[in-house]
Amino acid sequence: MQIGPYVLPNALFVAPMAGVTDRPFRKLCKRLGAGYAVSEMVTSRPDLQDSLKTSRRADHQGEPAPIAVQIAGTDAPMMADAARHNIDRGAQIIDINMGCPAKKVCTKWAGSALMQDEALALHIIEAVVAACAPHGVPVTLKMRTGWCASAKNAPALARAAESAGIQMLTVHGRTRDQGYKGFAEHHTVAAIKAELRIPVVANGDISSPQAAAAVLRQTGADALMIGRAAQGRPWIFREIAHYLTTGQELAPPSFAEVKAWMLEHLQEHYGLYGEHTGVRSARKHLGWYVQSLSLPADERQRFRAHINTLTNPDDQLKSVSDCFDAWSAGLPAPVMAEVDWRLAA
Ligand SMILES: Cc1cc2nc3c(=O)[nH]c(=O)nc-3n(C[C@H](O)[C@H](O)[C@H](O)COP(=O)(O)O)c2cc1C
Repeated sequence: MQIGPYVLPNALFVAPMAGVTDRPFRKLCKRLGAGYAVSEMVTSRPDLQDSLKTSRRADHQGEPAPIAVQIAGTDAPMMADAARHNIDRGAQIIDINMGCPAKKVCTKWAGSALMQDEALALHIIEAVVAACAPHGVPVTLKMRTGWCASAKNAPALARAAESAGIQMLTVHGRTRDQGYKGFAEHHTVAAIKAELRIPVVANGDISSPQAAAAVLRQTGADALMIGRAAQGRPWIFREIAHYLTTGQELAPPSFAEVKAWMLEHLQEHYGLYGEHTGVRSARKHLGWYVQSLSLPADERQRFRAHINTLTNPDDQLKSVSDCFDAWSAGLPAPVMAEVDWRLAA
């Protein structure tokens, strides 16, 4: 699998997810088997380019190449400028967001809403491709199957995007109207794949190695992109890779392995966000991690309740460490006893 000059180690991609796939999480996913990761979307608005949020999103320190930055907006010259700005800051691939159902970006309808206006969508694609060409930077596109069930224009837009110079296309098998409801369908992706020469990536509801194999069979896609199923389970990439290669399920990781990954993730997370914000924004990841482990539901719930009370990194790291050590030994986490006692009192 190749995007422009970049040969990827495999064809399993982490989906861009705003608020989730920041640098620490992308690095961990890549370490645990993902071949490629795209940044969370960054705005094309010049007045926001130096905001704390955007600079954190554009932080790629220590991340294995290629560095792929997703840009979002509705104005073609502004999107071209955003592409150049991000290239100057290290982007090696620029991805255009026409897949996000978020209501407004740049105070106008953007993301997948652009699919409603094919002329504007194409204008943006052409402007970004022209801006990236002198730098030899490939441009990729992420879209949905269309605006709504009666306007599934992804195949037409995909053909136009390929002619305009897009070098890879990702399709989430839902319309914009669906948000995240219902199920992703992949026959539209299969139809697009059959028509295009550039690599096509299938995305949507790939939540297990078996689902990955089925989507590959159904679509003939060149790669798979996984989003929500990787939350709290970044090792899903190595599980899928193993299953696609051997047809066998990989044994789940031990508590000790997950503990080591979580502690590493937390340290990187505090490094990016600072201790005050980092402790708080890490809580969602910790909740997802325990959700994906084989634990009794009430144990998970009490772990989350306890973690949400902690406000400094040392306490958060120690709690994670102690709980995982206890679970490794087949015991309830120590914090649970404390919460139990208080509840009983
Ligand atoms: C919390 C969250 C944030 C997302 N942010 C983005 C984004 O910044 N850019 C984008 O193109 N898609 C975004 N998406 C969509 C995902 O990339 C992906 O297309 C979608 O979740 C379907 O894949 P999945 O079923 O594997 O999760 C986001 C999805 C979620 C759940």
